Amino acid sequence: MEFFTRSGVPSRHKTGCAILGIFDGDGYSGPGDHFDKVSGGLLSSLKKQGDLPVKPGQTLLVQNPAGLACKRLLLIGCGKRKNFNIGAFKSAISLSISRLGALGASDAICYMAPEDADAYTKTRHAVEAVESALYRFDEMKSGKKEPPPRLKKFGIALADASGRKRAATAIAHASAIARGQAAARTLANLPANKCTPSHLAAYARKLAAGNSRLKATILGEAEMRKLRMGALLSVTAGAKEPAKLIVLQYRGAKRKAPIALVGKGVTFDTGGISLKPPQAMDEMKFDMGGAAGVLGAMTAIAEIKPDINVVAVVPACENMPGSQATRPGDIVRSMSGKTIEILNTDAEGRLILCDALTYARKFRPAAIIDVATLTGACVIALGHHLTGVMSKSDSLAQEIIEAGKSAHDEAWRLPVTEIYNRDLKSNFADIPNVMGREGGAITAACFLSRFTEGLEWAHLDIAGTAWKSGTAKGATGRPVPLLVQFLLGRAGIR
Ligand code: BES
Ligand code: MN
Ligand code: ZN
Repeated sequence: MEFFTRSGVPSRHKTGCAILGIFDGDGYSGPGDHFDKVSGGLLSSLKKQGDLPVKPGQTLLVQNPAGLACKRLLLIGCGKRKNFNIGAFKSAISLSISRLGALGASDAICYMAPEDADAYTKTRHAVEAVESALYRFDEMKSGKKEPPPRLKKFGIALADASGRKRAATAIAHASAIARGQAAARTLANLPANKCTPSHLAAYARKLAAGNSRLKATILGEAEMRKLRMGALLSVTAGAKEPAKLIVLQYRGAKRKAPIALVGKGVTFDTGGISLKPPQAMDEMKFDMGGAAGVLGAMTAIAEIKPDINVVAVVPACENMPGSQATRPGDIVRSMSGKTIEILNTDAEGRLILCDALTYARKFRPAAIIDVATLTGACVIALGHHLTGVMSKSDSLAQEIIEAGKSAHDEAWRLPVTEIYNRDLKSNFADIPNVMGREGGAITAACFLSRFTEGLEWAHLDIAGTAWKSGTAKGATGRPVPLLVQFLLGRAGIR
């Protein structure tokens, strides 16, 4: 899709389709008033007849509206003006894209926006919403595929020309984020027999091959053994598919401590010997959502090219049962030297992450953020809307929460205080890999905190936000927008 901005007199803009938002109560205003006047009262007569779409989900298409230069006018119900926030705006854009899909229009201009959004904000979220609505995953279908969208150009109307530069920056950021997010969705949507640890490694290698600022290093199991990554190796023990530790470095600055991103890459989580129940087990192909999110963020960063350093570390493996698999009660030595009693082989994410976190120390990161579909408990705590953030650093947690807000990819903090840490006791090893069921998202973070001492560390639990279930089943590509926003912030880019 090609994006552009437009200012000047809206009714004179030649376009295949003008998209106008209609509010519930006070109707149309701003460009709407102007359209109404120029068209000789088109909107006011629709209003009189009670035909204006005002509720979210309602739309009305007017063909060849008199007096306007557009071939079509698509009216979109936006609900109450005060409720029309970025989320509602993105849903309205999504709906416009699906309506446009049924039309012959090859270009459109959007005149709809939340009231207080500046040129950057509205452009950024419009572009992300358009790209996300156009995302398809049909590479595994053999039949006739959906034809590509006829829509080729999408414009964002600006109040005046003064916002053009900021809007152009927004288009660049949003396009890169959208590409990263789409890459994350595809990696996660691919089934586990296609998206193996080797496939994730190949993705990183390919990305690095096309960019002089990127360098990919892939470690195999022999190297993991040399590094004494007993925790990571214990998870892959039952799998035939070889495990990989993927390291992807982005260098955009000299002599600057990097931000480290660590993503859980369990390409399939059966639970291991602590086998999961069969319901929805297919969704455990999404258990590499953290890896996908981190690789997606690197994809966007490689395109935006900010002046920072970032290193992604992705431990990737399968969690399978089998005669070689780790048993409950087995004790392993992590790379850090701490011994772990594996009481439940289904708590495998923290095991691969602890060795990856220890490994990442060698980069002396300014901050380290791990991203993982770590616990069902986080889904119980926060549902599917917000990602869980856990950190001992108030400032880092706050910075992440703010990044999530402005990227419209929100996160909510859960505590990781000392009281929770006390329960981390094993009769036989330094620590167990599980505690009771209660507060499971937090106790998982406590386990990780034992491996991040002295680091500026935060943990994102995306178990509830990385994918959708039911009829809309599929990866969301979260938290790519949050991560990229955080990194842009660290680079001083607004
Ligand atoms: N990948 C799962 C977490 C998960 C479960 C995410 C369901 C999304 C939906 C993780 O490896 C896991 O199995 N966690 C266990 C931990 C427990 C054994 C302490 C869980 O949450 O049940
Ligand atoms: Mn598990
Ligand atoms: Zn898992």
